[in-house]
Amino acid sequence: MATTYTVAVLGAGKRGKMHAKLFSQNDRFRLVGLCDMNEERLQAAAPECGHPPLYTDAQKMLAETQPDIFCFCTPPALRKGLFQLGIDAGVKLIALEKPLSTNSAEAQEIFDMAEKVGVKFVVSHQQKYGDHYQAVKKIVDSGKLGRIQSVYGHTWGWYLHMVTHAMDYIRWYAGNPEAEWVSGTVHGRGKLDDNHPSPEYAGGFIQFANGVRGIIETGALSPDVPESEYEWHKGRFVVQGTEGFAEIIIGAGWRACTKADGYQEGPGCFDYEIDGARYIADIALWLDGTKVHPCNGADTLKGFQMAMALLRSAAENRIVPLPLTAGENEQDALRRVLPD
Ligand SMILES: NC(=O)c1ccc[n+]([C@@H]2O[C@H](COP(=O)([O-])OP(=O)(O)OC[C@H]3O[C@@H](n4cnc5c(N)ncnc54)[C@H](O)[C@@H]3O)[C@@H](O)[C@H]2O)c1
Repeated sequence: MATTYTVAVLGAGKRGKMHAKLFSQNDRFRLVGLCDMNEERLQAAAPECGHPPLYTDAQKMLAETQPDIFCFCTPPALRKGLFQLGIDAGVKLIALEKPLSTNSAEAQEIFDMAEKVGVKFVVSHQQKYGDHYQAVKKIVDSGKLGRIQSVYGHTWGWYLHMVTHAMDYIRWYAGNPEAEWVSGTVHGRGKLDDNHPSPEYAGGFIQFANGVRGIIETGALSPDVPESEYEWHKGRFVVQGTEGFAEIIIGAGWRACTKADGYQEGPGCFDYEIDGARYIADIALWLDGTKVHPCNGADTLKGFQMAMALLRSAAENRIVPLPLTAGENEQDALRRVLPD
């Protein structure tokens, strides 16, 4: 019989509540605890995820429940300390929300902490489980686009909200190659004090080792996507090859045109429940040892480094080679260079 994995979730905000609910609905998991220091949120979330034991202290929850999985869904400033709590509690896997961090040094530290003790981790880049993302991936992998030349991703949401999704999907469509260098430009201080501190707009180029060029734009000056009404769905990923192209629109399906099959299109829309349920199902398979999770920590770190390299490139007016080496904290660099 398949193993049932126990899960403790920290955060009963929008994302924590969703994770807790999806874990509670999948019979490969048993939700053994839900924690939030905000009791009102905690009580409101409980009925949606099967009334698990409730906690207001994460350490207490982990000590009492000894879960296999610690899932935490908190704002980006709260990462390393919570990651350490999970390691100290002896969990097998940590599932955290994107972004991995706000800066490259902490992201690397988190990755190294996990490596040292052999804890797996996944980061919630779950959009790629959507039917439209998967349809385009299937066309890319079929070879019908010929040699892939570029992957262009643009989103309206601001940088630390959307860039780690975008870098992850650009790299995924490119075939998960190593990135050789990143070049970037940034604009606007308006979001620097947000809890996802970001430039208002960022654009850049990524050169992958397999020859694919990544192109990215996120934030206020990114192109409109008239096919989607909702601002967080105004994003697109376009894969261009020598034999055709294929693209997804975050809120409005996919389309493709290839020499072999002509014009094609299909539905699909970013959906927290559908995409999240698939992301969570793969956590059990990774723990079973039958499938590496597509949102695993190693791939996440590579996408995150691409995002931080873009900021450094903009701050230092140079192309930044990857993998990243130690350097100025990217948030400090933004504060230093963005004009008032
Ligand atoms: N993957 C996605 O598609 C997606 C979508 C939206 C947001 N996110 C990410 O999810 C993360 C969380 O977003 P959110 O909107 O759920 O945030 P939120 O602020 O609404 O919720 C966080 C909750 O954590 C609780 N909390 C924080 N620290 C705690 C602690 N030490 N002990 C107990 N409780 C604590 C807070 O009280 C709050 O209720 C962010 O990093 C965000 O970028 C991901």
